[in-house]
Amino acid sequence: MIVDVHITEKSFGAKLLMQNVKFSVGNGEKIGVIGRNGIGKSTLFNILAETDTDFTGDIIYQRGVVAVATRQEYHDVHEKTTVLEYVLHGLPEYSELSHIIRTYPDTMGDDLRKINRYTDALQRFDDKGFYQVEEQIEREFKTFQLPADIAHRPFVSLSGGQKRLVEIVKIMHSQAHLALIDEPTNHMDYVAKDQFIDWLKHAREAVLVITHDRDVLREVDRIVELKDGGSQTYKGNYDAYLKQNALTTGTQMNDFEMVERRIENLKEKVITYQRLKEKSRNPGTIQRFKRLEERSRKELAELNTREKPTFWIDKESVSDLNYKTAAQYEKFKARNVRIKLRDNESRSKHVLVSARNLRLGYEAPLFEGIDIDLREGEAIEIRGRNGAGKTTLIKALLGDESITRFSGELTLDTGVRYGVYEQEVSPVYFDLALEDAIERLYLDRQLPISVTKIRGLLHDYLFDEGDGKIPLKLLSGGQKARFQLIAMLANDPQLLILDEPTNHLDLPSIEELETALARYSGAILYVSHDGYFREKLQGVVVELKV
Ligand SMILES: Nc1ncnc2c1ncn2[C@@H]1O[C@H](COP(=O)(O)OP(=O)(O)OP(=O)(O)O)[C@@H](O)[C@H]1O
Ligand SMILES: [Mg+2]
Repeated sequence: MIVDVHITEKSFGAKLLMQNVKFSVGNGEKIGVIGRNGIGKSTLFNILAETDTDFTGDIIYQRGVVAVATRQEYHDVHEKTTVLEYVLHGLPEYSELSHIIRTYPDTMGDDLRKINRYTDALQRFDDKGFYQVEEQIEREFKTFQLPADIAHRPFVSLSGGQKRLVEIVKIMHSQAHLALIDEPTNHMDYVAKDQFIDWLKHAREAVLVITHDRDVLREVDRIVELKDGGSQTYKGNYDAYLKQNALTTGTQMNDFEMVERRIENLKEKVITYQRLKEKSRNPGTIQRFKRLEERSRKELAELNTREKPTFWIDKESVSDLNYKTAAQYEKFKARNVRIKLRDNESRSKHVLVSARNLRLGYEAPLFEGIDIDLREGEAIEIRGRNGAGKTTLIKALLGDESITRFSGELTLDTGVRYGVYEQEVSPVYFDLALEDAIERLYLDRQLPISVTKIRGLLHDYLFDEGDGKIPLKLLSGGQKARFQLIAMLANDPQLLILDEPTNHLDLPSIEELETALARYSGAILYVSHDGYFREKLQGVVVELKV
């Protein structure tokens, strides 16, 4: 066993996230961690990585175990830190050892203790293979098809997909016993994803991976699901999980229904005993009914403190449910995000986006000869590897003037209302409380907004009352993604531009987004490396290449 986890309480202010999260990780085991957005998965990793110590419970690592972690957010990385520095300083012991090696020769003099530490450091640096590591890392960047000079670029200047790959390279060189990887394949393209999955399959270290990507979940040995403050472990991969989940959810719904019935039953009993008590004349009988009434009230109070469990079954399994369970599920299923898109409108054949002979870059173009015609009711997929220029093309379409190495004809119909789903939240909103960010967003676009409207939006996107007061930067990745959906849909758009919309969203939310888009009457231009999503949208593919 590498680590035993038992968290008995973790809260943020009044919000209780975990009450009973309990599991352990064995040597070399690959475990997928799933759960709805904002449930506490990233928080759990912060606790495991010991960057968050504000919780009750025990995390017991076996002696000598080294754990490394990836991150979901990078806004605290210094703007001058290069990619190579970022990776090196993320390796266990590297910073400490290289600091000693660099500074001690000047300061140690004949301080014997320091001299010893210095020689130990040299030995350890060699043992860990750190003298060759820079070279290996650069080689690894190449296998991931990252640009040749990437190592010396500022880390913050990389695209979302590139940052992810760099994180994985960091993990691969960490020689840790346990790797904690938070949503690795968000922003990865298909080639990189294959390589990651291949590494995962063969890695000697134990891996705990948070992901909503089914291609990754197919390769794990076990799944730990965070739900309703607790955790549940399922043996096997995602397919096995879906089957077990449909079964256990069925049982749990039965239990819940029984509790509900018992509550109704007890309510009636209380009234009956009360009535009988009042009607009785005999003191002994009065006492007896009083006792019975009290006993029922007590049980009722106990049952009423139980919260309704969250019930979710994937759409495919739902279609296989028997009649009774399906009806139960319809009644009890967890609330999902509500995405409102224009539908059933008369469609015009009006061209909203058109491109002729587009080309990006001069001598060695990233792409050239691209033609696009997008009409209302149609969908187009922009396909290409990481760094192929997809986001740049979208920016140029939206009139970003900083994009210069661009030629050809690109027009967006001037009257069209469009909504953009961006990969990252604009820093303008980062420090605002969620409800203020929504207000600001509407005002910035000269759209009407009211307290009632904000409350409605919070509700539709599964935020609870308290979340409105939390600064956007503290929300979970998936909650930020839901804010991006609100931003995209604010002006009731006729054209949607979606850049990797399924990243960060949990599975029920992705299902909901796909359903809403399938009914949408406007035009859609999207970029996605999620095979399942692409299958659903069936857009005409425009491939960016030379
Ligand atoms: N410092 C903080 N102050 C207040 N609330 C916080 C803070 N950090 C996180 N939260 C809240 O805790 C909850 C759990 O967040 P966490 O990032 O762990 O979720 P997650 O399961 O990783 O979600 P996702 O799938 O969206 O990444 C969220 O509701 C978030 O808003
Ligand atoms: Mg998270």
